[in-house]
Amino acid sequence: MLQDAIIPRFAREYETMTKITYIEHGGAEHVVDADNGQTIMEAAVKNAVPGIDADCGGACACATCHVFVDAAWMDKVGQPESMEESMLDFASERKETSRLSCQIQVTDALDGLVVRLPEVQG
Ligand code: FES
Repeated sequence: MLQDAIIPRFAREYETMTKITYIEHGGAEHVVDADNGQTIMEAAVKNAVPGIDADCGGACACATCHVFVDAAWMDKVGQPESMEESMLDFASERKETSRLSCQIQVTDALDGLVVRLPEVQG
């Protein structure tokens, strides 16, 4: 009975973990097990990834969670909505692959995602 209760719980927790790799401007890599439903920003903050300050707490109002999504992942991650698009104008070093990590939700489809941090957030 106890086994029936524990194994499904562990299985569920395992299934909801998604690996995200954050690469600092200097090249240091941080591989994080993120919970589905979190944002990429929340997973970084929870795991003390340097360079994701998230000053506004995820309200899409500061751009201190700016990341460059690896080009191979852009289709899966998708494009920013209009509010994020406006805030990205305040991000330095903006590129085609720029996103605010607080606006990207972790899902199974993003398992293996790689994002890089801008130099100013180093
Ligand atoms: S945490 Fe402020 S815009 Fe993402």
